[in-house]
Amino acid sequence: MTAKSKIAKKNPKKVAGIIGLGIYLPKKVLTNSDLEKMVDTSDEWIRTRTGISERRIADEKEVTSDLAANAARMALRDAKLEVEDVELIIVATISPDVPFPATSCIVQAKLGAKNAACFDINAACSGFIHELTIAQQFVESGMYKNVLVIGVELLSRFIDWKDRSTCVLFGDGAGAAVVAPVTTGGIIASYLGADGTKSGLLICPAGGSLHPASHKTVTEGLHFLKMQGNDVFKNAVRVMTGATAKVLQKAGLTTKDIDCVIPHQANIRIIEAIVERVGIPSEKVFVNVDRYGNMSAASAIVALYEAVKEGRVKKGDKVLLVAFGSGLVWGSCVIEW
Ligand code: COA
Repeated sequence: MTAKSKIAKKNPKKVAGIIGLGIYLPKKVLTNSDLEKMVDTSDEWIRTRTGISERRIADEKEVTSDLAANAARMALRDAKLEVEDVELIIVATISPDVPFPATSCIVQAKLGAKNAACFDINAACSGFIHELTIAQQFVESGMYKNVLVIGVELLSRFIDWKDRSTCVLFGDGAGAAVVAPVTTGGIIASYLGADGTKSGLLICPAGGSLHPASHKTVTEGLHFLKMQGNDVFKNAVRVMTGATAKVLQKAGLTTKDIDCVIPHQANIRIIEAIVERVGIPSEKVFVNVDRYGNMSAASAIVALYEAVKEGRVKKGDKVLLVAFGSGLVWGSCVIEW
């Protein structure tokens, strides 16, 4: 036996999986009929065009890191870990407390997770799949044992509440997962992609080096989210269909092997179009966009949490997550639960 194979035998390949989940959803519910009083829209239009009935809106005293820390505490309890056990915190968000420092550092302080390294990622609605894939690399390489990944958004502060084409779509929320080595199940395959040539389709134009904050940027509403809805819709269907096929191929599986699909929760019509193209029975697809709208980086993880709690994902099941967002970026992964 060579020295290398002796080491390999002593240190068999680690497999990363999720050992704890938590969520935090603000209490305030904003219904479609509430929106009817704010902009020229109707409950019927919103439900038929998007599938959304209501969404959560953070209290004015809450900031993004509060939502994140609340979800994280629940995930740590679920994983039966102490806060000191966390070695790395990754926060995925496009609605941070401040442009810098990283929201993950503020979350670290709120949790008292003094042994953790921290960084944020910006992968918009694919944030959870991206950070899960990053955490997987750290865990499987042996660099860290317990990685806390958080998908959080407080998009209500980045929305133009006078723009009916965007304000009806989004909501606030947070989800957290603890990623660690597992002896059964775990992440089977992941796939990430991007197309930066379409970065203008969904954008917050001001507040960075391109358009620093000024009276003009404020007057023109350039600190709000802007979206070309139709183009985003078409790209979402195309790339999430492709990302689903790609990750199944990487995992050596077919749609028949998958027990539950958790697509990004942006619009029920996007989900239906993907389901039809991929050929997955709709009863295998988890949907909660009706209750929360699009919570961007928090959507997939909140949906995964609810799917597990509702018994839609059981031990040994294979779960496929697929998401897409501003960038454009996209990602997919298959996990054995
Ligand atoms: N209430 C009533 N009417 C509305 C409306 C609202 N909230 N928002 C837009 N409209 C109107 C438009 O002004 C337009 O009117 P017009 O024909 O008189 O110009 C009409 O509805 C149709 O608009 P259109 O943009 O073609 O509708 P759509 O069927 O594409 O649906 C979205 C709009 C935004 C729901 C859809 O494009 C979408 O979901 N896109 C993807 C968004 C997304 O998922 N983003 C996040 C990606 S991670």
